[in-house]
Amino acid sequence: MSYPYQLMTQADYENAYRKSVENPEEFWAGVAENFVWRKKWDKVLEWNFTEPSVKWFIGGKLNITENCLDQWAQKQPDTPAIIWEPNNPNDPTITLTYKELLAKVIEFAVVLKNNGVEKGDRVCIYMPMVTELAIAMLACARIGAIHNIVFGGFSAKSIRDRIEDSQCTFVITADGVYRGAKPIDLKSAVDAALEGDTPVKKVIVLNHANIAISMKEGRDLWWHNEIASLQGKELKDPIEEMDAEDMLYILYTSGSTGKPKGVVHTTGGYMVYVTYSFVNVFQYKPGDIYFCTADIGWVTGHSYIVYGPLAAGATSLMFEGIPTYPDAGRFWDIVDKHKVNILYTAPTAIRSLMAFGLDPLKGKDLGSLKVIGSVGEPINLEAWQWYYDNVGKKNCPLVDTWWQTENGGILISTLAGVTPSIPTFATRPLPGIQPVLVDANGKELEGNNVAGNLCIKFPWPSMLRTTYGDHERCRLNYFATYPGNYFSGDGALRDENGNYRITGRVDDVINVSGHRIGTAEVESAINVQDSVVESAVVGYPHDIKGQALYAFVILDGNISEADALAKINTAVNKEIGHFARPDKIQFVKGLPKTRSGKIMRRILRKIAEGEMNNLGDTTTLLNPEVVEEIKNHRLS
Ligand code: WT7
Repeated sequence: MSYPYQLMTQADYENAYRKSVENPEEFWAGVAENFVWRKKWDKVLEWNFTEPSVKWFIGGKLNITENCLDQWAQKQPDTPAIIWEPNNPNDPTITLTYKELLAKVIEFAVVLKNNGVEKGDRVCIYMPMVTELAIAMLACARIGAIHNIVFGGFSAKSIRDRIEDSQCTFVITADGVYRGAKPIDLKSAVDAALEGDTPVKKVIVLNHANIAISMKEGRDLWWHNEIASLQGKELKDPIEEMDAEDMLYILYTSGSTGKPKGVVHTTGGYMVYVTYSFVNVFQYKPGDIYFCTADIGWVTGHSYIVYGPLAAGATSLMFEGIPTYPDAGRFWDIVDKHKVNILYTAPTAIRSLMAFGLDPLKGKDLGSLKVIGSVGEPINLEAWQWYYDNVGKKNCPLVDTWWQTENGGILISTLAGVTPSIPTFATRPLPGIQPVLVDANGKELEGNNVAGNLCIKFPWPSMLRTTYGDHERCRLNYFATYPGNYFSGDGALRDENGNYRITGRVDDVINVSGHRIGTAEVESAINVQDSVVESAVVGYPHDIKGQALYAFVILDGNISEADALAKINTAVNKEIGHFARPDKIQFVKGLPKTRSGKIMRRILRKIAEGEMNNLGDTTTLLNPEVVEEIKNHRLS
């Protein structure tokens, strides 16, 4: 088996790129022909970025799970689809071949159907990194239910908001998760999220961590009981035929304003793009063992643990634990144990492992590795070099992959060993991707050696179609800032050879350990506290997390700073989740404001970054005196 659309040389890439720009429809039709369609599309593409409206493979009918499972269960039934590595290295590994995974997905699809889940229903999934998570999402896709996965680190309140916003009628969860030394409860967060009025009718619970939990009569069902009830029965496969533009999933992500947005991905284009990009960026070859360390709760896991690799018939390794348990050599042990060929991880993980020095790498072979990858935030030179030298042993191409939840798949990246890797550069757009840099007025910056706001001017198959329940928000967020373009919210520069280097967000979104956090959300969690008058949250550079949050908070004087600190931390845990807690909270008498009352975040950002002598003109502020006070009490 080989992939007809795999680009093997730089010339292949240049040709494919040229063709994809000159004739995008023909180009993508050529790729899409390699997939399983129940009915071929009538038209490849219709689009405008004003509404916006984007449709790919119009009239095409398919089920993405036939591509991810059935075709391989036929062609290579005994090839491992998923290898699961437990948190505790002494517990057994689980391997599911394509044949086995297909059977389990059909079985669970029947369970969903028997419990009333119908095509188009939204299903919230809140689970650990276990094989049942992949089974649950594929079972949803098989019956045309729309999954809405919520990362296990989110709080009850966040689960509730997401369930409400997308009106989920079912939840799939587990009792708990193993991450590090002791199991963590998951089910109680779901219980709290469903208190009072809720659209949720049933909750299916996997017993994974043997934690004592409460089960609500009439609502909660055990996964194993539901499966057991099917034993000995003839199962009818409940597969649905889906339209290429039917919704596949919703995934919430933070923006610079308001509540998280439900990014909507549809079926046909998403499948084609994630598979094409998976094969080409990582240069996957049949038989390779591929390990992406992301959590399926984020888009990286959706596209590059489950859908992309499986639609390519690959072997995808899933890991439940954390990089430092039982010690900081765990990733390397996993690579050696399973002879991993392709490793895809995040700069924050690399930096946290770098902090342990080279000892944890001693005695590890890592000789199976052929390609190493990075995603989630800009990778700084030091981390790049460390990863390349000590993990890739200077002979694995490092792919720095730039993309976003909204993009569905990797947009700018080196193709491993095919196009050159350049430290700290994501390098070149994939075929089909037409990036542009624009200035503050939306004017396109042509030529090379320019820096600006990164936009994409032409649709690609896996781009978001809408934000759930609020199309106007999608338009305003992504298509209104620079009309005619999709605006990413990132800044970038293009060097003299046309390579892109992503410089980071240009809006109020902060990337903390690769987790995207809207400062507005953290502020609103802080501001609802009685004793808080106002707050402003900004990002600052952090050695391990990349960026961390710095909160400036005005108190009303009726609370001690110690109590306020505790209250704020609890509030952020409850409203969003642990990972969104500010590293620094400074209590201030005032926040710098413009005459019209807008908080001058630029100044706060500079102070947080420690660039205090470079604040620019502060004399036009409404309250210039607060700046000195804030500077004097800055937390270092
Ligand atoms: C934001 C998207 C896409 C998977 C994980 C994050 C930043 C992502 C890179 C990279 C520089 C990167 C951007 C982007 N980002 N990859 N290789 N180089 N920055 O998905 O949560 O939607 O976050 O992550 O700022 O806008 P996400």
